[in-house]
Amino acid sequence: MPGVERTLSIVKPDGVEKNVIGDVIRRFEGSGLDVVALKMLRLSPEEAGRFYYVHRERPFYRDLAGYMSSGPVVVMVLEGEGAINRVREIMGATDPAKAAPGTIRADHAESIERNIVHGSDSSGSADFEIPFFFPEVGIFSR
Ligand code: CMP
Repeated sequence: MPGVERTLSIVKPDGVEKNVIGDVIRRFEGSGLDVVALKMLRLSPEEAGRFYYVHRERPFYRDLAGYMSSGPVVVMVLEGEGAINRVREIMGATDPAKAAPGTIRADHAESIERNIVHGSDSSGSADFEIPFFFPEVGIFSR
């Protein structure tokens, strides 16, 4: 049992553009997760590159940094039992063509890159991604 975890989620520029910020948060809250930190911001290409540094050798890295800095995003920390995998299940597979019916990406995403939402893929990623955006004093556990 993973116990109570924190995970970072991002409503990406395409999600903000499509007005699905509320739908994404509703799905997370509806599954019993708490939103314990939240803000809207626009990443620079350099910041987006640092956030996705683990993908620096991948062929899509430059495009990904460009897309993630193309408009505002909403970043949030979610907390609850097994939060990391729960968020991944609610999002669906990275490629929306492979995402299970009823998941965020199956319902809203256009492509593997423009896939509406991000969620930490492991506790190690969450430990890097959460402080990337939020200091501990900016996280409000309940
Ligand atoms: P995310 O969960 O934010 O993690 C890395 C992101 O890279 C992923 O969602 C996609 O937006 C993007 N990505 C992953 N694989 C590919 C790919 N094969 N082609 C283009 N973008 C990708």
